[in-house]
Amino acid sequence: MTFAELFKYEIKPHQAETFPLNWEEIFRRPAPLVLEIGFGNGEFLIEWARRNPDWNLVGMELSLESMERALKRIQAEGLSNIRLIRDNAKFAVRELFGESTLDYVIMNFPDPWPKERHRHRRTLNAGFIRTLANVLKKGATFELTTDQGWYAENASELFSASGAFEVLEFRRNLHRPISTKYERKWLKLGRDIFNLKVVKRNTLDVGRIIEGKKMPHFILPGNVDSQQVFSLKDFFHKEDGKVFAVKEVFADSTRAVFLLKVVSTDDDYSQTFYLVVAPRSDGYIVKIDQGVQPYRTPAVKLAVRKIGEILSQEAQ
Ligand SMILES: C[S@@+](CC[C@H](N)C(=O)[O-])C[C@H]1O[C@@H](n2cnc3c(N)ncnc32)[C@H](O)[C@@H]1O
Repeated sequence: MTFAELFKYEIKPHQAETFPLNWEEIFRRPAPLVLEIGFGNGEFLIEWARRNPDWNLVGMELSLESMERALKRIQAEGLSNIRLIRDNAKFAVRELFGESTLDYVIMNFPDPWPKERHRHRRTLNAGFIRTLANVLKKGATFELTTDQGWYAENASELFSASGAFEVLEFRRNLHRPISTKYERKWLKLGRDIFNLKVVKRNTLDVGRIIEGKKMPHFILPGNVDSQQVFSLKDFFHKEDGKVFAVKEVFADSTRAVFLLKVVSTDDDYSQTFYLVVAPRSDGYIVKIDQGVQPYRTPAVKLAVRKIGEILSQEAQ
């Protein structure tokens, strides 16, 4: 199996020119669009796709290991109606799916993060429910299955309070035609399984933050001094919910071209990327290195502008 074959099922949205993504173009056909969040080893998604050849199915997962395992399974099955994305659903569902585009969203056994101090890590919170109220079509369903009764109850309350969803069903130990690895594990241990289905009734607005298709850059009129660039290591800047920090500074052997490792955060979405500071005929340029493409978010743009401004103040 070649890499090309394996990766035709994986979407790399960072390389897209426009956002949200055009899913009909990606699947090369119009069809009901459904999403599984946190697909784990992918067996539910694959069985779902096998049973519904007329749907376009998207799986989103954070774990690289799970992604690789699922990609191999999809390839082995030869299924053409699935695409996978490795990203954090809290950010990526809002940015990659347009308003009223999804026909069904499912979450099977999300990590519950029961401790109060870890609450911010839960995927299903009021902000994410607002995103779902934007991307789902009116009348479309969101389904949650979990072994944590409190989690399902909390989700049900959040959906009701959103003003956008109606709770359709809240069932205990519902027999589902397709099960997941975690489902079988909990059932074997005799645990109860909770299933919540809610229907979207109203669309809510969300603010999407990936901006434009042009990569930001900054032109400096003069020269830069290598000491000044190196002094940027550990530089940290915060502005209106956008944050970035310079983690490392590298230079080539001539100390004329520099690479800055930057971590940026928009709200709670972090990205790591590299900025190149390089000479050109009329001065210097600060731009994003193409090796690791970040989404063009406000924090990424801020990093380019701020580093450019600092170096131009000091440019000779
Ligand atoms: C407990 S496992 C359940 C896996 C699978 N759904 C099952 O039932 O067997 C939760 C999965 O969700 C993924 N996950 C957690 N938070 C996520 C997020 N914000 N976006 C995407 N995936 C996430 C984790 O990496 C993990 O694979």
